Amino acid sequence: MGEEIIIDKSRSKEEIYQTIFPQLEALIKNEPDLIANLANIAAVLKMSFDFFWVGFYLVKNNALVIGPFQGPIACTRIPLGKGVCGKSWEQKMPIIVPDVGLFPGHIACSSDSKSEIVIPKIKEDNVLFILDVDSDVLNSFDEIDAHYLTKFIALI
Ligand code: SME
Repeated sequence: MGEEIIIDKSRSKEEIYQTIFPQLEALIKNEPDLIANLANIAAVLKMSFDFFWVGFYLVKNNALVIGPFQGPIACTRIPLGKGVCGKSWEQKMPIIVPDVGLFPGHIACSSDSKSEIVIPKIKEDNVLFILDVDSDVLNSFDEIDAHYLTKFIALI
C-alpha cells in the first residue's frame, strides 16, 4: 500500500505541524507495532522540517538505546542523567536547548548539531522512550515545537 504525506513547506512552522498531525494520526492509528510507528514519525518530521537529526531512544533496562531515526549515525546508548536525552529521561520533562554548546554535559553525536529539543513519552509515571530532534542552526526550537511534538508522541 502506498503512503503519501502532503506538506506545504511555505507555511509557518505551526501550520506545518497542524497539517501533518492528522496525516500522522491516520498513518499510525491502525498499526500496533511501536517501532513501525516511531519510524514513520521520524520520517514525517524529517521530511516536513529537514531537521538535521530526528529520532527516538528507547528506555531499556538502565539506558536509553537508539531506536528509529533519520539522519547521521548517533550514539547508541545514553545513561540516565547524561546529556540532554538522559536529563529529560531523569526529569521526565521536555528540554529545549537553544545552544547545545551551553548545555552542561551535552553529548555531541555530531559537531554540526547546534540546538536540540527532547520530549519524553511518559506512561504511568515511567518514561518509555524519548523523542530527540537536532538542528544545525542555533535557537531552532520553542514552545510551539514542544507542544506539537508532545501531541505527536501522545498518538503512540
Ligand atoms: N545530543 C544528545 C545525544 C543524542 S544525539 O543528539 C542524536 C544528548 O545530549 O543527549
